[in-house]
Amino acid sequence: MSHRFAAVLLAAGQGTRMKSDIPKVLHEIAGRSMIGHVAAAVAVLHPAAEIIVHAPGGEHIVGSVDGAVGAEQSRALGTGDALKAALPLLPDDVDTVLVLYGDTPFISSNTLRTMLDLRAAADAPAVVVLGFDAALPNMYGRLVVDAAGQLTEIIEARDASDAQLAITLCNSGIMAIAADRLADWLGQIGNTNAKGEFYMTDLVAIACAAGARCAAVAGQESEALGIDDRLALARAEVMMQDRLRQAAMAEGATLIDPASVYFSYDTVLGRDCVIHPQVVFGPGVHLEARVEIKSFSHIEASRIAEGAAIGPFARLRGGAEIAADVRIGNFVEVKNARLHAGVKAGHLSYLGDADIGAGANIGAGTITCNYDGIDKHRTTIGAGAFIGSNTALVAPVKIGADAMIAAGSTISRDVDPAAMAISRAEVRVVAGAATRFRDRRRAKKTKTSSEG
Ligand code: UD1
Ligand code: MG
Repeated sequence: MSHRFAAVLLAAGQGTRMKSDIPKVLHEIAGRSMIGHVAAAVAVLHPAAEIIVHAPGGEHIVGSVDGAVGAEQSRALGTGDALKAALPLLPDDVDTVLVLYGDTPFISSNTLRTMLDLRAAADAPAVVVLGFDAALPNMYGRLVVDAAGQLTEIIEARDASDAQLAITLCNSGIMAIAADRLADWLGQIGNTNAKGEFYMTDLVAIACAAGARCAAVAGQESEALGIDDRLALARAEVMMQDRLRQAAMAEGATLIDPASVYFSYDTVLGRDCVIHPQVVFGPGVHLEARVEIKSFSHIEASRIAEGAAIGPFARLRGGAEIAADVRIGNFVEVKNARLHAGVKAGHLSYLGDADIGAGANIGAGTITCNYDGIDKHRTTIGAGAFIGSNTALVAPVKIGADAMIAAGSTISRDVDPAAMAISRAEVRVVAGAATRFRDRRRAKKTKTSSEG
């Protein structure tokens, strides 16, 4: 029978050090919650069940992770107590329970696989703990390893002696535990320690006392990082951005100034994309090959096809579908709109809830008036249409293919293909009136100042 495991993600802690009204594990790194990162690493390994232990009122944490089920820990009495809350939901037929903390977002699937492989081997240790050598062990728990190299105990920093504090091999919090022993050993955890909490880390000493073998796997510090406060969160963001920038360049994108480009965890860039300095990608962006994004652009939930050029100072919001060779210039905002191949929108426009046909030209200052205060409405512009500058398109409205809209128009009804629509006040030109106006004003000014 193949080795089956269930994953338990602990996320019921108070996150006190974060000083936040949002549960700690929902704080985001590169556009995805910490627990979202952990769950993604686990999902690759196909757990038989994924259980998230949350605090009362934290059901939305479970909802944020696809396929997870929730177990409530009624009071945050410690990581050992949290794991107990998951016991009733564990499937009967799993060999291993893989426990992860929701605040270690850098953990990789490969490292988890190494731990599970160790548990699946013949004569496997009953408990496998992921450790790492820390430059500054600080508040991490320390892994106590005996002369034979066996893990005998995990001691929390607050409870450690000076000699134990000198240990640099730290506890990541990630453990793979024999499923058939877990309930028994959890029942033996006490809370006589510095924090008065039930520490999951005590499982190691309890397992050893029961004659079972425990092992530590050494991982990278960068993978085991636990985020407990805002400083660590900011550092984690820097680390994650660095990884994403390197990955984008490795895939063949040019970042002119990598440190000034901000990615989301799921940003996809095609070959030969060029990203200028100071660009921000929110979640859900996919760029095909040879897309150029110029400086100071903000792009989220958008798809951009080959050869399109965006910015500088462009904003693409949710649902922007940009086809090949489209040009979007400065101060153009696009939301929930499809721009077909070759559309040009060079300057100062809002294009929302719109479908814009191939090759259409959108003049400076064109606004789709999509919202009437209650509902949103669509604007449809046919292929090859020309929208003159400073046009207000009052949706719902359709502009036919190859139609022209004269500059400064407000268009509140449909325009047929190839027709021209003009809606402006007529221009009156009065000969010499400017000179007469100035003369009158100057004369009045001279009179007042000589009297004063
Ligand atoms: C824990 C470990 C420590 C390890 C460090 C790694 C224990 C006792 N200590 O310390 O050895 O070096 O992580 O980052 O396990 N949680 C609950 N319910 C609780 C308490 C915590 O679900 O009652 C959850 C938290 O939401 C969090 C995780 O468990 O996701 C870890 O809790 P945290 O308070 O951050 O533990 P650390 O002090 O970091
Ligand atoms: Mg922590």
